[in-house]
Amino acid sequence: MKVMFVFGTRPEAIKLAPIILEAKKHFDTIVCVSEQHKEMLYQVTNFFNIHIDYNLHIMKNSQSLFDITSNILLKIKEIYETQKPDIVIVQGDTTTAFAAALSAFYLKIKIAHIEAGLRSFDLYNPFPEEANRKFISAIATYHFAPTKIAYDNLLNEGIKKNVYLTGNSVVDALYIVLDKLKKTNITPEALMSIDFSKRIILLTSHRRESFGKPMQSIFEAIKQIALEFKDIEIVYPVHLNPNVKNLAYDVLSGFDNIKLIKPLTYPEFVYILSKSHLVITDSGGVQEEAPAFGIPVLVIRKTTERQEGIKANVAKLVGTNTQSILRATKQLIADTSTYNSMSNQVNPYGDGKTSQRIISILKESK
Ligand code: UD1
Ligand code: UDP
Repeated sequence: MKVMFVFGTRPEAIKLAPIILEAKKHFDTIVCVSEQHKEMLYQVTNFFNIHIDYNLHIMKNSQSLFDITSNILLKIKEIYETQKPDIVIVQGDTTTAFAAALSAFYLKIKIAHIEAGLRSFDLYNPFPEEANRKFISAIATYHFAPTKIAYDNLLNEGIKKNVYLTGNSVVDALYIVLDKLKKTNITPEALMSIDFSKRIILLTSHRRESFGKPMQSIFEAIKQIALEFKDIEIVYPVHLNPNVKNLAYDVLSGFDNIKLIKPLTYPEFVYILSKSHLVITDSGGVQEEAPAFGIPVLVIRKTTERQEGIKANVAKLVGTNTQSILRATKQLIADTSTYNSMSNQVNPYGDGKTSQRIISILKESK
């Protein structure tokens, strides 16, 4: 059987890497990247030693959704026609995943969707991801749901055939990294500027629906935390999207206890995550990783499809309003009992065996 993985961004690469490594043991495996991300993508493929067979080279500065979708549709057709994969495998809800799945559908190639069934039930939050994942569910043959909630979402939408509960491969990726980190306990070079004697708040923010005012309001809260709590170190690996980067450096530069740094490699990020006191994020992947370390998460979004963390009381949805972010952060910094009640080491997202499960299901489907 020939399978082709298509992906383009950092989180897809992280979550697909362990599945690709497993697939290579059993199938003729082709890897195609859209290059929706560039530097942030290769940070991951290099770390996991993923060989890239095809590259669509689509990334351009401040790309629009039209750029990403149309360029993938036009460029991938020939590759599918030449390679004739039995199954195209996509992950999550990026526009690469959607466009690669749509192209496969046009050629009647089966689609396997990893991390299927996540729903916020708000079409514009996250945007365009909520729509992307629903589009993929409508045309995929295999649906690999990471959690029971995601699995039930699919059933409730009438998607009942080939739906499997597998866990999230982000935990597989995390275990691979932790195994490597265990062997060296040296602070990575990229983190040398961080004062580890202070409590660390790790910040990540990049969502499209937050561009402009909401992101300004998030950064305003961060600034005020930095001014009020000098004993806290805020670390922000800034996403390369110019809509994020320009505003972040405008609003948050010049504070001793705010460290704006370049995107970290996956092991560097896991290292700083493991040393953090609190995480403030709008990232999907980070919401799934922080609970593995028992680190409370404040989710700076209007909605989250990762309800498992909220239910386990390790994550709290605080929106993008300056005052609500400030209130929740101050409470966690100042009130030990609130902090302890949220500092639960749980892993509702996976057990590290998701890749094996998915590949053995696909093997049996031959
Ligand atoms: C994309 C995904 C989002 C995912 C996020 C993960 C879509 C529509 N968005 O959003 O679902 O959560 O990735 O990070 O699929 N850039 C670089 N170098 C890089 C990466 C990005 O310079 O390595 C810059 C470029 O100017 C690019 C811009 O960032 O045009 C935006 O990238 P894009 O993939 O469109 O959006 P993200 O916000 O990264
Ligand atoms: N991550 C990373 N380096 C960073 C920031 C994040 O490797 O500087 C990892 C993080 O561990 C997680 C993933 O990137 O696995 C999340 O990516 P992102 O927040 O860009 O996308 P999302 O998960 O929101 O789609």
